[in-house]
Amino acid sequence: MKEMVLQTKVKVCGFDELPAADKELVEAARAATSCSYAVYSKFNVGAAVRLDDGTIVSGSNQENAAYPSGLCAERTTIFWANSQYPTKAVESLAIAARNEQGELAVPIPPCGACRQVILETEKRFNRAMRIILYGAKECYIIEDGVKALLPLSFDSNFLE
Ligand code: THU
Repeated sequence: MKEMVLQTKVKVCGFDELPAADKELVEAARAATSCSYAVYSKFNVGAAVRLDDGTIVSGSNQENAAYPSGLCAERTTIFWANSQYPTKAVESLAIAARNEQGELAVPIPPCGACRQVILETEKRFNRAMRIILYGAKECYIIEDGVKALLPLSFDSNFLE
């Protein structure tokens, strides 16, 4: 039997060590947590994307009494960006979160459904996204796109 080893490279650093462009995007994601509508979970998530012309768009999670009708910060942001700027590729994505105690020390990774949407967006624009996950204690940088977070992924190639 053969074995496949699927590796994921994640860079770990403090916020202060991030390149200036990443810091700016993270700050937009952190600020977006205050626009979150998270009355049920009290878990405020903010996301920000940088488009290929430098435009930054941010968004936050929007919850609903019918829980599955709510949407994560990442998808809110990407869908908003893509619906406003359908020809601009998404270059990078930052995610930040806080709960009632304040900002989380460790980064939150995007959920599975958001990873799938990130993958579709990468495919759509033929461009891997730089993903920056913010935590007050440490940040993670995924440089080579969402495939690192979603190995053996299903995309439109299988539909051909
Ligand atoms: N949430 C996000 O917005 N992004 C994630 O990556 C994980 C979870 C939201 C969904 C829900 O509103 C709340 O956080 C608790 O799960």
